[in-house]
Amino acid sequence: MDVLTAIYQRRSIRHFTDAPVPASLVHELIRAATQAPSAVNQQPWVFGVIRGRRRLDGYSERAKAHLLAILPQALSLHRRADTLASHEYNVFHHAGTLVFIAARPAPHHPEEDCCLAAQNLMLAAHALGLGTCPIGFARPWLNLPAVKAELGIPGSCHVVMPLAVGWPAGQSAPVPREPPEIVCWQEDARPAG
Ligand SMILES: Cc1cc2nc3c(=O)[nH]c(=O)nc-3n(C[C@H](O)[C@H](O)[C@H](O)COP(=O)(O)O)c2cc1C
Repeated sequence: MDVLTAIYQRRSIRHFTDAPVPASLVHELIRAATQAPSAVNQQPWVFGVIRGRRRLDGYSERAKAHLLAILPQALSLHRRADTLASHEYNVFHHAGTLVFIAARPAPHHPEEDCCLAAQNLMLAAHALGLGTCPIGFARPWLNLPAVKAELGIPGSCHVVMPLAVGWPAGQSAPVPREPPEIVCWQEDARPAG
């Protein structure tokens, strides 16, 4: 698949089949992520892999409970409170695999580098027939010091992008995009004619 096709076809996937993602493919996705550019080639990313629906279902409940507890501080989440409070809502959309990208402390905005790595991973997954969904809802919980200690995430690392990964169950409708707003385009005057 060429890169433009992957860019235009990729969708956030929220329905997955029961088929497991082989560990070799998870490694391939992580290798693709590390091909992203990074400031002064600092490569500040580290990766975490959590596998197993039962385990992720349990973490989903805990991530939801944490989000609901911090709602007064995270005002932007308020309109999602009903969704989060619903017993049916699974933060990871019942995916069997979660890959998260975390930033080591680094001098040059390591979070941006991790986001570029995440986009590489999502496009590579799409090219391999896999589906992904960024899971911002899981980030506050994954960054709790106690949770980091439990999962073996170094305390100095900051989880930037959790990504649910699995085999898509069916098609996802395209999500429309606004036309780009180009606020600046300057160039030398062209010679007349
Ligand atoms: C930083 C970030 C956090 C996101 N968090 C969630 C999330 O917690 N749950 C979810 O279902 N989708 C999440 N998404 C997916 C967006 O809803 C999705 O990318 C957007 O609606 C555009 O759809 P598309 O990815 O299919 O193009 C997140 C996306 C980003 C970039």
